[in-house]
Amino acid sequence: MILADITQNPQLGVCYYPEHWPEDQWQTDAANMVAAGLKWVRIAEFAWSRIEPGPGRFDWGWLDRAVDILGNAGLSIVMCTPTATPPKWLVDKMPDMVAVDAMGRPRKFGSRRHYSFAHQGYRLECARISALIAQRYGEHSAVAAWQTDNEYGCHDTAISYCATAMRGFREWLAARYGTPEKLNAAWGNVFWSMEYRSFDEIDLPNLTVTEANPSHALDFFRYSSDMIAEFNRIQSDIIRKHSPGRPIAHNFMGNFNQFDHRPLAKDLDIAAWDSYPLGMLQDMHLKARSDKVLNRDCLRTGDPDFQAFHHDLYRGMGRLWVMEQQPGPVNWARVNVIPANGAVRLWSWEAIAHGAEIVSYFRWRQAPFAQEQMHAGLRLRNDDAAAGLAEVSKVAGELASLTMTAPQQAEIALVHDYEADRMSQLDGQTEDFHYLRLLLDIYRGARQNGGSLDVIGPDAPLDGYKLILLPSLIHVSQELADRLQASGARILAGPRTAAKTEDFQLPEKLAGSILADLTGFVATRIDALPAEFPLPVEWNGQRGEVSVWHERGEVSSQVGGQVGGQVGGQVETGEPLLVSGNRGGYLTGWADAELLRQIIGTEMQKAGIECHDIPDYLRIRARGDLIIATNYGPEPASLPASVDGEFLIGERCVPSAGVTVIRRAQATK
Ligand code: GAL
Repeated sequence: MILADITQNPQLGVCYYPEHWPEDQWQTDAANMVAAGLKWVRIAEFAWSRIEPGPGRFDWGWLDRAVDILGNAGLSIVMCTPTATPPKWLVDKMPDMVAVDAMGRPRKFGSRRHYSFAHQGYRLECARISALIAQRYGEHSAVAAWQTDNEYGCHDTAISYCATAMRGFREWLAARYGTPEKLNAAWGNVFWSMEYRSFDEIDLPNLTVTEANPSHALDFFRYSSDMIAEFNRIQSDIIRKHSPGRPIAHNFMGNFNQFDHRPLAKDLDIAAWDSYPLGMLQDMHLKARSDKVLNRDCLRTGDPDFQAFHHDLYRGMGRLWVMEQQPGPVNWARVNVIPANGAVRLWSWEAIAHGAEIVSYFRWRQAPFAQEQMHAGLRLRNDDAAAGLAEVSKVAGELASLTMTAPQQAEIALVHDYEADRMSQLDGQTEDFHYLRLLLDIYRGARQNGGSLDVIGPDAPLDGYKLILLPSLIHVSQELADRLQASGARILAGPRTAAKTEDFQLPEKLAGSILADLTGFVATRIDALPAEFPLPVEWNGQRGEVSVWHERGEVSSQVGGQVGGQVGGQVETGEPLLVSGNRGGYLTGWADAELLRQIIGTEMQKAGIECHDIPDYLRIRARGDLIIATNYGPEPASLPASVDGEFLIGERCVPSAGVTVIRRAQATK
């Protein structure tokens, strides 16, 4: 009953570690969670050494009692498999289970995630412990959902250059290509006499003298992604068998591209992620280039679009939960600031606006020992309330006062692809190119016009979208090109779209040609720009800059396209900024934020999507008949008159780090 309800009406939860605290505190903790308005609690993801202190020697008693105490208090439990932290005795038993880094060094015991996804022995151990936990708690009335492992790939662990991976990769390649000749052709191994006579000769693409063949590296990325999906599937199959009806989640991360998440997500019900807005702002190379959005003003609130982007990204892979929400300062960014007053509530509402069913805070009480002592919780070490707790309770009260519906499909789709991200790294041309940053800039441009977006994979259905954005989708299959044609939607591609084949070769008919009919452009030359020297550009009377990446080429009328070829804007070199084709256009360069805002606003209007003129740091997001406004800026900001309805929470003027919720009068999307 609860589960059916959260798809409509979101709830809050918290991450809790009973094994960190004396047992006589658990009852009070559970009661305090409920009093704070929390309804969910996630447990046990790092508890293997306490569940099984030695091989085959179990201590279930403490976990049984914790589950009963939390359940009896009325909390729904997210039970985790503890496979992110194999205990010492297990590593000692199978020393070759650890991952090996790109320099060939085994990764040591003493933190977490010290395993290779491909290792068969470790997989068996994970199946064994997962089955025991799933059998024991699978049908417990308080266990309402599951999480597999914890943050696959965190701490650079997605890829392992271990002996198991080398053997597995060879088999994987044999299955993919059938013969070494086919592999040699797909990789272009004739280039530097890199041809293989048998699959057994192929090594992993690390420690080569200069860069490895990018096709080799791309296939190793694909293989490694498959290993993570296989690893997860073992656990999700076991949980489904022993815990029918309970949804399965994994908690993914922000700005994380080291494996393809989509195949793995097919085995989940819930695509959860861990949202740390300030940690990410500091740490993830997402700093401003030429735009004014990311600066000191957002130091304590975070990027106005980063969280939103990831909510939309993961909602495209399953039901959306935020499994870990930053509750105060974290400990792991380069510099760890205190969030603005109101920011924890702001982030919670951003997640809810984008369809989150659960927002769960990390963690209940600050850890007194080990690696994360400086990381805030909802309570201080002495159990006094920490600053974030009052904001959490406020959100809980607000949620209880509203009736909500599940989010509907947006009118704009932004296509995101992990392989495209990987390809952009393999064929850099400039070290400043950052795939996610480009997508975020494009996404931001739509949001600044009041747009709500879906972030979808290249295989997702396209029906119902009015505008489809395809920045840097480096490989576009014929199948996708056909579906884009058939979709009837307006397409905005580029820069760097359709530039490679699936095998990572240049397409015979040049970059962009597969879409040229729709977009009107084929790229013939790439101009990578040093950060200090962007190109001046003028578009629609507006001056701005193109930085990092610019493509020169031919408009479709010159290359035999039928219609289109109209040019908008001119880069200093005399080349076009925006070319239009039969149904959409091609953006030839990475334009600055203000230009993107205007270009994408114009595309939205052409696609028949309503635009709103909203202030810089304010954002709106539609969820059913609600519009949720969030203000990331340091000053109050007013919603334009075009956004109107019944004000349920807050007012037209949204304070700094504030939230306004409106039941809309008209069908605004
Ligand atoms: C996450 C992780 C948690 C905790 C948290 C601290 O990446 O899943 O276990 O380490 O970060 O912010």
